[in-house]
Amino acid sequence: MSNGERTLSIIKPDAVERNLSEKIKSIFLKNNLLVLDTKKLHLSKDEAAEFYKVHQSKPFYDQLCNYLSSGPIEVMILEGENAVLKNRELMGATDPKNAKDGTIRKLYGVSIDKNSVHGSDSVDNAKIEINFFFNK
Ligand code: CMP
Repeated sequence: MSNGERTLSIIKPDAVERNLSEKIKSIFLKNNLLVLDTKKLHLSKDEAAEFYKVHQSKPFYDQLCNYLSSGPIEVMILEGENAVLKNRELMGATDPKNAKDGTIRKLYGVSIDKNSVHGSDSVDNAKIEINFFFNK
């Protein structure tokens, strides 16, 4: 049963390009995360910069925004018990080479930039990120 917690997941350009969306979604479903809504889009660099503005002071910010806007992405709302934490566990560590076996980033990630997926890091940020893409 879902307790209604929601989180935002992004399938990044490297994974969309390799047609991994359905495989990644099946991992969410198998782990009781419901895909409530999904859409495919291609962000401009300005939109990517707005989305990632919490990272604006980081040395990798510009590269990060260039990357997220480099090709189509798929964004989705996931819902389920402890959805934020569960999604982060399923994704694995930010850098695929540190990610545990069986996690999405271990299975599909290429590098710290091309790490295939993004997931909200807290319930508060999930609300902000869901609102950014879905207006709800
Ligand atoms: P994500 O979960 O989308 O949130 C911010 C992203 O910055 C992160 O995944 C990485 O893909 C990217 N990134 C690039 N370089 C670094 C770095 N040195 N440390 C952390 N994140 C980085």
